[in-house]
Amino acid sequence: MATDYDAAYEKSMNDPDAFWAEQAEDCHWYKKWDKVLDDSNKPFYRWFTGGEVNTCYNALDYHIDNGRGDQLALIYDSPVTETSKKYTYNELRDEVAKFAGALAAQGVVKGDRVIIYMPMIAEAAIAMLGCARIGAVHSVVFGGFAAKELATRIEDAKPKVIVSASCGIEGKKTIKYKPLLDGAIEFSSHKPDKCIVFQRPMEKAEMISGRDLDWAESVAAAAPHDCVPVAATDPLYILYTSGTTGQPKGVVRDNGGHMVALKWSMKAVYDVDAGDVYWAASDVGWVVGHSYIVYGPLLKGCTTILFEGKPVGTPDAGVFWRVISEHKVRTMFTAPTAFRAIKREDPEAKLLKNYDLSNFKYLFLAGERSDPDTIQWSENNLKVPVIDHWWQTETGWSIVANCAGLHLYPVKYGSPTKPAPGWDVQVVDPDCNQVKAGEIGALVVKLPLPPGTLPTLWQNDDRYVESYLDEFPGYYKTADAGYIDEEGYVYVMARTDDIINVAGHRLSTGGMEEVLSDHPDVAECAVLGVADKLKGQIPIGFLVLNAGVTRENDEIIKEVIQMVRDRIGPVAAFKTATVVKRLPKTRSGKILRGTIQKIADNSDYKVPATIDDPTTLDEMEVALNNIGLAKSRT
Ligand code: COA
Ligand code: AMP
Repeated sequence: MATDYDAAYEKSMNDPDAFWAEQAEDCHWYKKWDKVLDDSNKPFYRWFTGGEVNTCYNALDYHIDNGRGDQLALIYDSPVTETSKKYTYNELRDEVAKFAGALAAQGVVKGDRVIIYMPMIAEAAIAMLGCARIGAVHSVVFGGFAAKELATRIEDAKPKVIVSASCGIEGKKTIKYKPLLDGAIEFSSHKPDKCIVFQRPMEKAEMISGRDLDWAESVAAAAPHDCVPVAATDPLYILYTSGTTGQPKGVVRDNGGHMVALKWSMKAVYDVDAGDVYWAASDVGWVVGHSYIVYGPLLKGCTTILFEGKPVGTPDAGVFWRVISEHKVRTMFTAPTAFRAIKREDPEAKLLKNYDLSNFKYLFLAGERSDPDTIQWSENNLKVPVIDHWWQTETGWSIVANCAGLHLYPVKYGSPTKPAPGWDVQVVDPDCNQVKAGEIGALVVKLPLPPGTLPTLWQNDDRYVESYLDEFPGYYKTADAGYIDEEGYVYVMARTDDIINVAGHRLSTGGMEEVLSDHPDVAECAVLGVADKLKGQIPIGFLVLNAGVTRENDEIIKEVIQMVRDRIGPVAAFKTATVVKRLPKTRSGKILRGTIQKIADNSDYKVPATIDDPTTLDEMEVALNNIGLAKSRT
């Protein structure tokens, strides 16, 4: 029998204009669109051209105008500072309108960029929504990135204003943000006019007179700003994500398509309604934070939770259960690594017994492959459906999911289930021919992509086409490999490029190699992601030193580890490197990364026919053994 999912999927494929126009009716438009899908400039597709909207209006004022003003919009829950703060829709709108006024007072207007480099405090969401309110384009930079990475983003986005805070709190550590911000501005040739800095009580930032403004003072002096209508196709934000080089990709998100797709996804994918409490335990610096801490739940009229803590250690492995119970969370979304961390600390979930989870209905996992062990442990203990879903920064919402609000299919471990409505997912071989069910190939999506996905990369149409569209004409390349089984379940196996996923954080090994190669003693290097029980993958560096280098290997290793920390940031979790005489290569000189990775992960491997010298693999095995990998690893 056909399910609601079947009906929605079929309609989204056969009549996408009607399908998405119907969802768009659920939003507020200053002016309705002229065209739902505008394909007049292929391969650049646009959604809802001619329409005028304001995303902040739809996320806040719309609900107030519809009687939800006194409902909670946002709960800031911070075990690391032992504080929490609740905002109704009225209160959040007022704070956002004031902050929008503070930005406007600095001359920020529609289309200007604002970089937000902030920890997980409510002001980060207020700053994002404040930008949206006046049509400014925000670009949030994750706090775990170093000054150099921030500088690259400042250079590319050219913000008029940067919004930051005096510090972040990572477990028991206080991380000063201001020196990182000052360093980044120094590295960058583009300089913002102003920086607005939120002073946290635990660490006061030193301000640079004439450039830095105090958040509280700026807001106190500002007049609330109303929503500014923007074109549906105007950018709402830029979110930089790892590419294959050290130069990140500026993923652009529009206003109209994003608003329509996210609001619709809240019910269709996550099965939540207005008034429900929804919690994405991620960070506003990642796409999950953009889509499902800030925009999705607020567009839907839910109560969203902004959590400043970790799954373990803040104070213990029961903190997720405490938050779910205290705030009556219906649906939670996090990365599998967070649950692996909890499971490691409290394997029998003893802490769960202290909490009432009767309102809790679903756990959603994404950001990396969900291993069956973690899913089963969560199912057994939480007694709710545990749903793996697959998506990317570029797509903004799920490509493949078990759409809980449409129809829950039986779970097949290892598969995020079926393509979400709007997504024509296929598996192709290198010549772009569809392969048979069950055969592995490149996971691609037939164009056009649905609303809410990236229309291009920030001021770089060429890189957009080259990165995603050139290899498989007519398709979007996800850069993931996988297969689809006879029943239409999709399996996502691995990236086809050098992106790795460390604790759900997306990182480029190419970017790390660029840093290592800069060390004066390093002649050649490779960085690979190897399997890790907690973080899914961790990066390992292999260094070939210049002839004649006599310094201690350990000293050089320490230096390169520090270089990655300084240039990319602690989030790279680059803590292991080893010196080798040679790297295994093909006869044409390509490093055999796949083979090295298999050795490190203890997987079966064949000696490639193209290998230049098979003895390099034996050397690699010894080197891996020395750092506790390969055969010695269980
Ligand atoms: N600001 C500054 N530093 C940060 C940071 C931030 N926002 N986020 C992480 N870091 C630092 C950490 O302090 C750590 O530094 P260290 O090397 O000095 O210890 C480093 O970056 C690595 O952090 P993390 O990946 O968080 O590892 P961890 O060992 O501290 O914690 C987990 C492990 C599993 C608990 C943690 O990774 C986690 O909660 N993961 C969930 C991931 C997630 O939500 N992903 C979002 C996608 S849905
Ligand atoms: P990001 O852009 O940081 O969200 O990372 C996207 C990448 O994470 C994808 O291309 C996948 O490689 C991986 N990923 C995300 N979700 C899943 C999932 N549910 N299963 C397998 N891989 C995933």
